[in-house]
Amino acid sequence: MAGADVGDDVYGEDPTVNRLENMVAERAGMNAGLFVPSGTQGNLLAILAHCERGDEYIAGQQAHCYRFEGGGAAVLGGVQPQPVDFAPDGRLDLTDIKTMIKPLNDHFAVTRLVCLENTQAGKVLPLDYQAQVHRFATEHGLALHLDGARVLNASVAQQVPLATITARYHSATICLSKGLGAPVGSVLVGNSQLIAKARRWRKMAGGGMRQAGILAAAGIYALDNHVERLADDHVRAARLAVGLANLGYAVNLAEVQTNMVFVDTPASMHEPLIAHLRQEGILAGGYERLRLVTHLDVTDEDIDTTLKAFQAFQFVSFA
Ligand SMILES: Cc1ncc(COP(=O)(O)O)c(C=O)c1O
Repeated sequence: MAGADVGDDVYGEDPTVNRLENMVAERAGMNAGLFVPSGTQGNLLAILAHCERGDEYIAGQQAHCYRFEGGGAAVLGGVQPQPVDFAPDGRLDLTDIKTMIKPLNDHFAVTRLVCLENTQAGKVLPLDYQAQVHRFATEHGLALHLDGARVLNASVAQQVPLATITARYHSATICLSKGLGAPVGSVLVGNSQLIAKARRWRKMAGGGMRQAGILAAAGIYALDNHVERLADDHVRAARLAVGLANLGYAVNLAEVQTNMVFVDTPASMHEPLIAHLRQEGILAGGYERLRLVTHLDVTDEDIDTTLKAFQAFQFVSFA
């Protein structure tokens, strides 16, 4: 990072940012990329680039781009979200999507975009499902965006190149600062026209950064060194999940497909358990369900420590 060549990325003159954008676009099989400070901004710019004021995007009820981004598309773009329940495996059912597409009539917002998430809460979307949604979107004249914050986990889990997944979409946001371990940033990819629109929105949202190459350099390093190793995180998450289930915690093992483990606890146990784990140096989160995530700073020993902490909590709470 310290040695990165830098320039003014607002003018497209930062060579390291340009290299990162090209690298991600190429791996995703798209022809342009845009470095953004966060996944949230990447999703926002994608929605604003696909939609006009008065349009609508369909997304999962628990989708990050609907539920956890402050309503940005509605607030800043006048774009209405239409949530649809996720199926337990992370899909949006095509019949449900179809029901939500509005007729072209002055009463309704214009349905313009469908957003999927992959992985969705750690679950990997099947490739044939994504192909099906692509065909469906084409038939209905809709654009398709992927919140691919963790799409590289999906690509490693399915052992397919990133482009095999992203080829089904018109745009995708790919995060560098989660499992990949870079300190900051996501890259939005799509065709050149869409990315040119998103670049304009990025400037307006305050996401155009100067000398951003020092951050992009970390992203390049992460892509070169931290992708294949995501498989280790998946193995550790699986071991954690089995260990927790053996201790009697409610973990749905079928859901543990990549680097996330969800533990269902009685509501009264949620906060005390999080506090207990924190005391043991383990950061866990989640709103309704306790969420544990493995990443490149989590070792095999950390999994053992975590299991011991859960076991100790049982002793405390059931003593
Ligand atoms: C699925 C998903 N999409 C997007 C984001 C947003 O990323 P960021 O925190 O970089 O804004 C997150 C963050 O947790 C996420 O989990």
